[in-house]
Amino acid sequence: MTNTKKVAGHKFLAGLGKTRLRPGGKQATEWLFKQAGFTPQSQVLEIACNMATTSIEIAKRFGCHIIGIDVDKSALEKARQNTHKNNVDQLVDIQQANASKLPFADNSFDIVINEAMLTMYTDNTKANLLTEYFRVLKPGGKLLTHDIMLTNPEQAQEIIERIRQAINVNAQPISYDSWLNLFSSIGFTDIKAAHAPMTLMSPKGLIIDEGFFGALNIFRNALRKQNRTQFFNMFRTFRQNRQQLNYIAVCSIKPK
Ligand SMILES: C[S@@+](CC[C@H](N)C(=O)[O-])C[C@H]1O[C@@H](n2cnc3c(N)ncnc32)[C@H](O)[C@@H]1O
Repeated sequence: MTNTKKVAGHKFLAGLGKTRLRPGGKQATEWLFKQAGFTPQSQVLEIACNMATTSIEIAKRFGCHIIGIDVDKSALEKARQNTHKNNVDQLVDIQQANASKLPFADNSFDIVINEAMLTMYTDNTKANLLTEYFRVLKPGGKLLTHDIMLTNPEQAQEIIERIRQAINVNAQPISYDSWLNLFSSIGFTDIKAAHAPMTLMSPKGLIIDEGFFGALNIFRNALRKQNRTQFFNMFRTFRQNRQQLNYIAVCSIKPK
């Protein structure tokens, strides 16, 4: 009852200097990039772009046009600054929008990418969101997602409760089979998935995602008095439940 700075885990980590706010970090994103087959002609939408780390990377590496959307105004402010700093304003277009009602016509995008967002929602809402992603994808277009997966669904409720307490978000991770069934229930086909232990807060994952000095800076900020409790609470929760939690990266296709 007492401890009360209820900051959502991803906002807290962003405040410490973390730029990748997703369960499988670079490793999972790289797997998604491999499935995507981006070309300079690809029309790409990133949903939940936050500070635009992924959008900027896609634009720089593959030279394609990308729209990044998010609901969080202050994250979008940072996204615009980052886009400008990286000289990709011509390729990356940042807009405020809600994933549940995308302001785009049907069949608009070759690729939609959405990392670390679906897990935040109930299963019904996940399905509604996926229906919206399906709508804006062109026939033959690819959906790339990256979320949290439960390895042992029998212990689900207990683990979900611990995660919710640690990250102050109503997270609703589901099992491998449930994730795959969800995508196929919407009509996606050719579903490929990869999963492995989460890297979000492991020391090795932090170094891979943020570089040595980036990770050092995050640790230094985490040790500040006002951050210590939340940081170690999140760190311990993910560490103690590491056998039960994986990331899952999924590539699925809207049929032609
Ligand atoms: C855990 S962060 C992940 C950010 C980024 N994709 C990454 O992997 O680093 C979740 C993001 O989803 C955004 N978000 C949550 N619900 C959303 C919605 N309905 N529409 C758009 N963005 C949403 C949040 O604002 C936040 O930026």
